[in-house]
Amino acid sequence: MANNSFKFGMIGLGVMGRNLLLNMADHGFPVVGFDKDTQKTSTLESTATPGTTVKGVNTLAEMIQALEKPRRLMMLVPAGKPVDDVINDLIPLLDKGDIVIDGGNSHYTDTLRRVKLLQEKGFHFMGVGISGGEQGARTGPSIMPGGDPEAYTHVQPLLEAVAAKVNGSPCVAHLGKDAAGHYVKMVHNGIEYAIMQLISETYDLLHRGLELDNDELYKIYKSWNEGELQSFLVEITRDIFLKKDEKTDNRLVDMILDKAGAKGTGKWTSQDAMDLGLPIPVIDMAVSMRELSAYKEERTKAATMYKTSTVDMPIPQEVFIQQVHDALYFATIISYAQGLAMLHKASIELGMEIPMPEVVRVWRGGCIIRSSLLEVFYQSFTKNPDLPNILLDEDICTLLSAKRQNMRNVIIHAIHMGYPVAGLMAALSYFDAYRSERMPTNLIQAQRDYFGAHTYQRIDEPGVFHSEWNK
Ligand code: 6PG
Repeated sequence: MANNSFKFGMIGLGVMGRNLLLNMADHGFPVVGFDKDTQKTSTLESTATPGTTVKGVNTLAEMIQALEKPRRLMMLVPAGKPVDDVINDLIPLLDKGDIVIDGGNSHYTDTLRRVKLLQEKGFHFMGVGISGGEQGARTGPSIMPGGDPEAYTHVQPLLEAVAAKVNGSPCVAHLGKDAAGHYVKMVHNGIEYAIMQLISETYDLLHRGLELDNDELYKIYKSWNEGELQSFLVEITRDIFLKKDEKTDNRLVDMILDKAGAKGTGKWTSQDAMDLGLPIPVIDMAVSMRELSAYKEERTKAATMYKTSTVDMPIPQEVFIQQVHDALYFATIISYAQGLAMLHKASIELGMEIPMPEVVRVWRGGCIIRSSLLEVFYQSFTKNPDLPNILLDEDICTLLSAKRQNMRNVIIHAIHMGYPVAGLMAALSYFDAYRSERMPTNLIQAQRDYFGAHTYQRIDEPGVFHSEWNK
């Protein structure tokens, strides 16, 4: 294959970069991959599907020469300094109009800065969220591009070819200005954290609470995945229970230390929601619970100090399992509601022009938070693209109302038995506060005015008031 005729270049041939590039090649695009590591470039070539055009190079200059103009290249390198390093190496090699894509999980403020830097030099820079893990990258991820719409037209056919398909429609769309793609991916990950936390709480209730073994858990999550809870995360949870440990006779899940890692996107979502003034307590709680899990030694000590005797479940097992199912369904909807409300507000406040129906459409396939619920949300946003919160949609109201009592029942039983359900509780409290026409914040305003003369508004006349409270 002649130089100047390859359609796409990938910088960074870790498993994600390699798989995405091979996916492009499988769809008929001649592609070139760069990595300094010769082992990685030879793995790229040796794992390519026979008959596809895939070339590995070990210098950026070779990659630049290989690509057709305007050049389209993506980097899949760790977020932070590595992205800036690649950009600095690329700048002297690029021509005006070339398109550089960051496909990693970069913070959107970094993306904004990079868009500006490259724009000033006549290049396009796009932040593109990619979800689906290693397997998704190879067979069809969900792709969340943002940035210059003109640059997008150059990469659109390629991204549409490789993305997951739902009802024949590719799970990719232009999701807004500048850093919108990375913003949407960040919130996707926040929702991912929330749902993973909720599933882990249901596991705790069934495993520690009901003392069900892994085979029984497998059956429960299998049946859940065949119903209205159908989702990628429930599906993999089901399979996790069957995996055997290679070193012992046990199931692998039982041999894994209970300390959760995190690369930061969940925390960024919480931090940014605070800046926006938009509450996402289930996501916040999911981040906090991962953090708490790291304090293993302290938890082990506290466990001996605050021992309680086990309390039996007061209702039949099958009834409780159904209640837990309903609670997970209810709280999962609340998690999506919080993330989507955040995107709606960020779109306005940060001027990102995020098309909400497109976001949920793109999330229906390929990504980690794909679930049958996304189809319901897609209908909601198609009816009303400016919906500030999906809880205000009549169909969602019907779904939540049907599960609401069991949501409460699960929390009552969890408290009774002494198992932590922080995510479920956060979901229910958010719901109860959101549906309260009058919150107790009148009292907070009174307290603020009492000690700090911060003033308050009245319910019966406009204006700002202050009172002398202790006279
Ligand atoms: C995806 C995932 C992915 C993320 C990992 C790790 O959509 O494919 O969100 O991008 O990096 O899930 O996230 P944590 O290490 O923070 O759990």
